[in-house]
Amino acid sequence: MKTAIKLVVPVVVILLTAFHSNVSVQQSTPWVAPSSADTIQNPLKNNPAAVTEGKKLYDKYCWTCHGKSGKGDGPGAKTLNPKPADHTSPVVQNQSDGAIWWKISKGRGQMSPYEKSLNKNQRWQLVCYIRSMAATQQTK
Ligand code: HEC
Repeated sequence: MKTAIKLVVPVVVILLTAFHSNVSVQQSTPWVAPSSADTIQNPLKNNPAAVTEGKKLYDKYCWTCHGKSGKGDGPGAKTLNPKPADHTSPVVQNQSDGAIWWKISKGRGQMSPYEKSLNKNQRWQLVCYIRSMAATQQTK
């Protein structure tokens, strides 16, 4: 009997700790791409056609959560925690193209990984379109 308790207690402690840390990760940890992502070069940089193509993809796959203008206020965002990122904000815009591309590829939580459903080029087109969202904001 004593041996059983000695075994059960640590298991319960481990389970509780794992559950607790999992919950707090979802609520508060900022999402940071690995620094290696910063070295991935955008092959479509300053390519206006890529922005147009990126918008088409965005209007199909992304706006429901991120909102039509990228502010994170799409109809699907209401129940999400953490909320989808505001693509017009410095939090997103100050990241490298490679970091944004990496996040679209890998996903986290409610944000699906798109590396299988969208090809490399399509993911870069989305990065170009996300960049253009900030540019629109600044000229206002
Ligand atoms: C089901 C809702 C949903 C859809 C659809 C969705 N996202 Fe997201 N996205 C999220 C959420 C939620 C986060 C925040 C995730 C986190 O911080 O854990 C996020 C985060 C991001 C980020 C990271 C921003 C940052 O914090 O640095 C990028 C970039 C992004 N999404 C791009 C896209 C693109 C591009 C698409 C379409 C191909 C897309 N998302 C589709 C919900 C969604």
